[in-house]
Amino acid sequence: MEKKKIKEMVARMTLEEKAGLCSGLDFWHTKGVERLRIPSEMVSDGPHGLRKQDDAADHLGINDSIKAVCFPAGCATASSFNRELVTKLGETLGEECQAENISTILGPAMNIKRSPLCGRNFEYYSEDPFVSAEMGGALVHGVQSKNVGTSPKHFMANNQEYHRMTSSSEMDERTMREIYLASFEGMVKKEKPWTIMNSYNKLNGTYLCENKEMLTDILRKEWGFDGYVMTDWGAMNERVEALKAGCNLEMPSCGGATDAEIAAAVQDGTLDEAVLDSACEEFLNVIFRYEENRDKTSVFEYERDHKIARQVEEECIVLLKNDDAVLPLSSDKKIAFIGKYVKEPRYQGGGSSHINSFKVESAWDASEFTQNVKRENLVFAKGFDDAEDKVDETLMAEAVQTAEKADVAVIFAGLPDNFESEGYDRKHMSMPDCQNKLIEAVAEVQPNTVVVLHNGAPVEMPWIGKVKAVLEAYLGGQAVGGAVLNVLYGNTNPSGHLAETFPIRLHDTPCYLNYGGEHDKSVYSEGVFVGYRYYASKDMKVLFPFGYGLSYTTFAFRNLTVEKERIKESEELTVNVDVTNTGVCTGKEVIQLYVAPKEGTIIRPVRELKGFEKVELVPGETKTVQFVLDSRSYAYWNTEIHDWHVESGEYEIQIGRNAQDIVLSKTVYVESETMIPKVFNLNSTMGEIMSDPKGKAVLEQAFASMMGEEAQAMGEQAQGDGEAISNEMMAAMMEGMPLRQLISFVPGVTKEALNQLIMALNN
Ligand code: BGC
Repeated sequence: MEKKKIKEMVARMTLEEKAGLCSGLDFWHTKGVERLRIPSEMVSDGPHGLRKQDDAADHLGINDSIKAVCFPAGCATASSFNRELVTKLGETLGEECQAENISTILGPAMNIKRSPLCGRNFEYYSEDPFVSAEMGGALVHGVQSKNVGTSPKHFMANNQEYHRMTSSSEMDERTMREIYLASFEGMVKKEKPWTIMNSYNKLNGTYLCENKEMLTDILRKEWGFDGYVMTDWGAMNERVEALKAGCNLEMPSCGGATDAEIAAAVQDGTLDEAVLDSACEEFLNVIFRYEENRDKTSVFEYERDHKIARQVEEECIVLLKNDDAVLPLSSDKKIAFIGKYVKEPRYQGGGSSHINSFKVESAWDASEFTQNVKRENLVFAKGFDDAEDKVDETLMAEAVQTAEKADVAVIFAGLPDNFESEGYDRKHMSMPDCQNKLIEAVAEVQPNTVVVLHNGAPVEMPWIGKVKAVLEAYLGGQAVGGAVLNVLYGNTNPSGHLAETFPIRLHDTPCYLNYGGEHDKSVYSEGVFVGYRYYASKDMKVLFPFGYGLSYTTFAFRNLTVEKERIKESEELTVNVDVTNTGVCTGKEVIQLYVAPKEGTIIRPVRELKGFEKVELVPGETKTVQFVLDSRSYAYWNTEIHDWHVESGEYEIQIGRNAQDIVLSKTVYVESETMIPKVFNLNSTMGEIMSDPKGKAVLEQAFASMMGEEAQAMGEQAQGDGEAISNEMMAAMMEGMPLRQLISFVPGVTKEALNQLIMALNN
């Protein structure tokens, strides 16, 4: 509907109707106004399938949600590094929404994985904001192409479940911009989500629902968001303040209570009615966008979507280890499938994203129809029961015996439901003891032991040196079994790469000392050094780095070229690199481009991911992959100008197999085009002044006239005192010396002269 018409409609509404429109009708519906033909619409979780519940259904339960398809969770889809694939997943979700008359799916979940402990990491994409924004953007693109809205969440800095409804995430401006806002920024700018969901927590002391800087200044004014902001369920604090800050819709229903607060505030003059009007207009824009583009022919195609779930998962699985090419398995070998998850896979996480799957395909089920799998060559042993974390000696002994008699043992392990979920964080990164012990015991008798992991976040692997292969399947959705078998037996060549670091142990993580916080404050003191930005900068050993993933084939990277070796910041730079499949089977590879500043005055991560592409290659084939970099590829957030800034200097353009294995690099010189105006005073150091081109010129000239012969003599003497004060020492002392100290150290320099100098510098 045209904006003009919407304006007119709002003008015809009563104050009460307008106030009412800004809160939910019930748990899942927005309100309508019958006399104006404003429809009530349904929204639903999300994000990796539909959780369409009845109005009266319980908040987190699955009792009354419809049968649906559970797709791989965000932790998995991010590791596909395949935008087209995630867009296809989005299109499928969009069609399902149309079929079920759902106007908006509540997702994608796009918070940064600050610590592996966050209970909801399984829904989130990455520790890297670029990956998060790209993958989230791909999903938004797909869903919205079917004329269904998305609600990227939880905006923002909701990086822990502990006290998520009251805790304040405390961070500096640069960290906020470079990491936590950046995780949403690219997606909002490119894909224009119809809605955004604000998070429960506070940011530097202000609840997100009331955070004008986030909801209006940044989201709308800077990034151009033109949809409506809804609260997370129950995330409203002060309704009138929230409306003023840019939060349009309180969800779920408030029972009328806070609607009355809005009406009263307009009447007593504390709320400008125009604010309410534009909140309604923004909201109605989206309501009619859906209404006018209904696809009533859409049907929920369960079996088709189940297959899509399997296809997606196949690209998400990450091969972490494969010694002696123990994988792929050969169909003629006798294989022992061990572990509870062989028959009952853990394929999704707990909480609001929980899907009532219409069917679940375990590896055991899939062995009946998967190509190259001979069921008669498979044996099963349960090995553990994770209902409680206790070793079951009988199950374990049986598993060990079964493994011993087979050619290969494949253990299906990971994290049980109660280890990770929305609502609480993990306390440690261990797998259940009963599973760790089982893996050790099996590996003891079976040299060819393979571990398949079903988990939503990194785990410690004390047994890593004792097993031959590890496949990270993540929480792979309801078709995980078939996907895993296709990878295990080589029908699909694994191509997932980790979108997060697997540290060796929890103690190594960047926010280990602060995570969770105290007194409801969580201080992000690690700053921008999140995930690989920390590990790579410290050159730390990790279990598996960000970006890591193996294949059944091999790839070589050659011929990295940059279009120019010297550019101005505003110029785009085209980078090309050749990738060749040097192995024996077709496969897909993720080409990762990192940018590493070689010099500069800002403390920065040693490298940051600025581009990735996924390509498929047959054996012997070479493809040239192109990246186009722009000024953001070199920029950091400058807190003086409150904007992105590029420092002049050399930057390495690096191609990496992962964040800690760089295989090719080229250096470019980037010239800054933004002068940061400097104001000098008596406490400005000589180094600061000399690093500024104008400062340098003024200072050199002033020195020549101000100091005269005496000072020059002093300088010469200092140089002559080779032993006591070396040139380096002199230079270092001068670099850090504030102007005012010249009075004490340089004969003839007066305060008046310095004041004049400062005037000249600041002029
Ligand atoms: C979750 C959201 C979810 C909402 C509705 C909240 O508890 O944080 O992600 O969309 O519930 O179920």
